[in-house]
Amino acid sequence: MKKISIIGAGRVGETTALIIAQQGLCQEVALLDVREGAAEGAALDIMQAAVYFGFDVEVNGSSDPALIAGSDLVIVTAGSPRKPGMSRSDMLKINTTIIDSIVDQVLEHTPDALLLIVSNPVDALTWHAWKRTGWEKGRVFGQAGVLDGARMAYFIARETGVSFKDIQAMVIGGHGDTMVPLLSFSSVYGVNAAALLDPAASARIIEHTRNGGAEVLTLRKNSSAYNAPAAAICTMVDAIFHDRKRVLSCVSVLEGEYRQSDISVGVPVVLGRNGIEQVIELPLNETEWMDFQRSIDSVRAYLEPA
Ligand code: LAC
Repeated sequence: MKKISIIGAGRVGETTALIIAQQGLCQEVALLDVREGAAEGAALDIMQAAVYFGFDVEVNGSSDPALIAGSDLVIVTAGSPRKPGMSRSDMLKINTTIIDSIVDQVLEHTPDALLLIVSNPVDALTWHAWKRTGWEKGRVFGQAGVLDGARMAYFIARETGVSFKDIQAMVIGGHGDTMVPLLSFSSVYGVNAAALLDPAASARIIEHTRNGGAEVLTLRKNSSAYNAPAAAICTMVDAIFHDRKRVLSCVSVLEGEYRQSDISVGVPVVLGRNGIEQVIELPLNETEWMDFQRSIDSVRAYLEPA
């Protein structure tokens, strides 16, 4: 695998391109943006950092979709950003149109690629993109749980005072207010987080995780999070390009798993060079099932025709 295309040279797209280049995750990055000059400028800026960072990944930018030809992976970050007070569903209408035209470009210029959706509302857009490709389901997936899990790990670290390296965190469900942070499938130095943390700390962690994106946006006012999202995307890229078979929570199309179908939502999967190679079904308890079902219902509400 050699080439990654990133559609959308906004903050998430540009930061992702820089991290991919710095980490040498592939040989070539194509950055695409409909705004004339935006992707070219970002690519130039990144390539001029190569001198000091010492990377030899080639980053090119363009507004011409032909640049994405021959990609192994296409990452979609383009879309209308979430503004304060705007819900993820407000974005659905605008971003569905954008995703449709991007999927058509992918089908035309690089029909053998994997497709990673980042734009919000990510669960609904992943479903939409998958339907439009007509591909097998493991090739189209979304980023949400890797980011939400990072936020949860950060808040667990803050409560316990131990290194992130010794914390594992699992978040499933839709990437929104109903996401399901699972303390019982999270651990601190191997000890079950649900058993280790007192109820007040547990409640704070769950609340902060659910509000993770909104908190950053509210503080910054003019920008959603982009550093942690880019780090999350690059974690998925690393798993795919090195065929690591990592278990990560990703937005996956479900066809019978978790007794669901006709939907895509965050669940743990095995991620490797073929994309999603397996969906892992966690043995949820009754409360967790109810929370997950509620989250699925909220994603499904987006998918129903208005
Ligand atoms: C977040 C938005 C961007 O979670 O989805 O930060």
